[in-house]
Amino acid sequence: MSATAFETGEDFALAMDTKDPLRPFRERFHFPKTTSREECVYLCGHSLGLQPKTVRNYIDEELRDWAALGVEGHFHAQHPWVPYHRLLTDQTAGLVGAEPSEVVVMNSLTVNLHLMMATFYRPAKQRHKILMERGAFPSDQYAVKSQIRFHGFDPASSLIEIGPREGESCLRDEDIEDLIGREGNAIALIMFGGVNYATGQVLDMQGITKAGHKQGCVVGLDLAHAAGNIPLQLHDWAPDFAVWCSYKYLNGGPGCVGGCFVHERHAAEGSLPRFAGWWGHDEKSRFKMGPDFHPMHGAEGWQLSNPPIFALAPLRASMDMFAEAGMDRLREKSVVLTGYLEFLLKQQAGPRFSIITPSEPERRGAQLSIRLPEADRGVCERLVSQGVVGDWREPDTYRIAPVPLYNSFHDVYQFIQRFFRAIS
Ligand SMILES: Cc1ncc(COP(=O)(O)O)c(C=O)c1O
Repeated sequence: MSATAFETGEDFALAMDTKDPLRPFRERFHFPKTTSREECVYLCGHSLGLQPKTVRNYIDEELRDWAALGVEGHFHAQHPWVPYHRLLTDQTAGLVGAEPSEVVVMNSLTVNLHLMMATFYRPAKQRHKILMERGAFPSDQYAVKSQIRFHGFDPASSLIEIGPREGESCLRDEDIEDLIGREGNAIALIMFGGVNYATGQVLDMQGITKAGHKQGCVVGLDLAHAAGNIPLQLHDWAPDFAVWCSYKYLNGGPGCVGGCFVHERHAAEGSLPRFAGWWGHDEKSRFKMGPDFHPMHGAEGWQLSNPPIFALAPLRASMDMFAEAGMDRLREKSVVLTGYLEFLLKQQAGPRFSIITPSEPERRGAQLSIRLPEADRGVCERLVSQGVVGDWREPDTYRIAPVPLYNSFHDVYQFIQRFFRAIS
């Protein structure tokens, strides 16, 4: 799919769907229904992705093996549980542009962020600050501030938060890089969301990493809103670490296991300090049950516990579909689909609402954030009652994301009709 001269009529949306090579994937997801049993217009994949219809089979297989084999399933299940998480390694590495040894699927995002900071945030007297975006996702703020306090520093003097310029909604990459250039020698850790959760803005992750490393800072990324949404090249961009969750664009289900990236240059450094658990211990001697910890090579060396099979199984269902669809094709459709949404919104944008997400496709993913200065959460609730699922972020932002794997152009068209009615 390529950029198109968009049109406002319904027949244009239907014609685009007919031409869409990814269209068959839609049938492979469960869509929530309205009380009158109609399919919802679901534009909330930035919050919780839909359930692939194959999830049940993936879980049933493990339930059957558990019933039939008990503990023997660890080594003799059809997909043995001890290395079960590795079924996701190659696909995950491909999705985020990493080497397989650089990624592991484990825990959840905030837990992984703490594990990464335990290793990579090593504040010293002259270099103790963390730089992050102002208004970062609250869990990231809590995690970062608690780490600062844990090391005996004070967020009031150790946390730098950079925001948009006066009157602007999004950060400027050059402002971030200027700040790093000016204050980098006091910054221990630079920690940004690759895609901002509130505005949908994509940051220049490579540029920030480069600027940070030039000043001797460690660079970490929260990719909650990036994984499965935009193409990533983590190995080449070379941040020190990254973390993400799998329940948004990756459709792994509520609270699904998250992902973690540790760059290859740290892989061999078994001596890096970390919070250890037995699953991070060298697998060849793990079951010898010795007292001393010898980490596995790569990101797997940060694992703590044996993997939760029933949380990984749904993710396998979705990742198999991602592999089939291909991130290149998904991104190609996403650019057109979100461009179409923007085009339709702009037909009526004005004092009642504005789009705060950047308009350049390379500075955004699937999501558009709409600021409604005169509205409140009631708009979102009215839309839900009309079968439209997006979400509201206080004080005045409505977020929607047409997801290329399962949303159609007609979804976007229908959304627009109901949205304009709901705010009129
Ligand atoms: C940007 C961002 N960071 C962190 C989190 C917290 O994730 P978890 O609850 O998996 O720790 C979220 C959850 O939505 C998020 O969007």
